This record gives sequence, C-alpha cells and structure tokens, in this order.
Amino acid sequence: MYLLLGLFLSYLLGAIPVGILVARKYGHPDLTQKGSGNIGATNVARIVGKKAGIITLIGDITKGLLPVLFFSILIGTDTWQEQTIVALAGLSAFLGHIFSIFLKFKGGKGVATATGVFLGLCPLAVLVDIMVFSFVAWRWRYVSLASLSAALAMPVLMGLFSDKKVYILLAVVIAFLIFYRHKDNIKRLLAGREPTFK
Ligand code: G3P
Repeated sequence: MYLLLGLFLSYLLGAIPVGILVARKYGHPDLTQKGSGNIGATNVARIVGKKAGIITLIGDITKGLLPVLFFSILIGTDTWQEQTIVALAGLSAFLGHIFSIFLKFKGGKGVATATGVFLGLCPLAVLVDIMVFSFVAWRWRYVSLASLSAALAMPVLMGLFSDKKVYILLAVVIAFLIFYRHKDNIKRLLAGREPTFK
C-alpha cells in the first residue's frame, strides 16, 4: 500500500510541468503554442531564453532524481526486488513527465527527467552519456538527434557500468518511450526540416 502511494507520488512529482511554470514566470504563458510546442528545456531556451532553459533543465532532472534517491535510501538496492522498486519509482516520475495528469496526459519528451532517473541509478553511465549527447549536438547541431543518440546509448552504458539487469531493462523501456515522444522530430530530421541550434 505504502509502495503504491510512493509510486503515485513519484508520478505526481514527475507530472509537474516545470517548463510551463518557468515560461509563465518569465512572461510566456503560451509555451506549448510556440517553437516545437514542447515543455522541455530546449523549447524553453528557444522561446524564453537560456537562463529559463537551464532552470527548466535542473527542475526536470530533479524530478527524476528525487524518487530514485528516496527509494534507494529507504529500501536499499541489494536484491533484484529492491532494484525493481527503485526502477519503478524512476519510471513513475518519467511517465509523469511525458503523460502528465496536469496536462491532460500530454507532456514532455522525457530526456531531462530520464537523466535524473539514471543519475540516481548509475552516475557514471550518465557522465559518459552526456559526452555522447554533447558530441552529437556539437557535430550535427540538433538537440533532438543528440537526445535520441543518448537515449539509444543508455542501455549499452548501463550494461557496461552497472551489474543490475533491471536498470538495463529500464533504460530500454525509457529509450523506446523517448523515441516515441520524438516522432515529430524524427520526421523533421529525415525531411531535413529540424531546426538546428546556434
Ligand atoms: O529533449 C527535447 C529535445 O530532444 C528536442 O526538443 O523542443 O527541439 O523538440 P525540441
């Protein structure tokens, strides 16, 4: 019972639309009507500005990190059962972000929140994944392509740096959902219409 409550609270935390709140605070109440229409840090930076984008990024990462840390400390991560509960807490926050109850079950693309989840599970994998993201973003100047590359790399990195199979499975599930949420970006990338960043 307490477990279900904890998972539900993780979902609710993930569902907080940080980008919308930050954009509103900076005088942009219509974030979802502008740019890519996404509520993530990239679109906030695009429409509102860099500082607001960074605040959104930190907020969205924190939403994924807190439930994982909370459950890891509370129950530990020694057995596969404990690892599964911790992974489910991270997944709940991630699902909250992409299917938010506060946005009629719409939401963001999940990259920053997933980063927070994996940061709590295996910081080393995230460190290397940030290098993957940065290289792709620097080389091709598409945030979306960098996000997709990082999502694809995470299950491999988790396999390399963590011995916990359930975390690898989580990385696969999250990669699948991140690709699903980027379907419009993928179409634009293939058509050569995805905007680059400066
Ligand atoms: O994390 C989101 C990013 O990959 C793409 O954002 O606003 O360009 O669709 P956006």
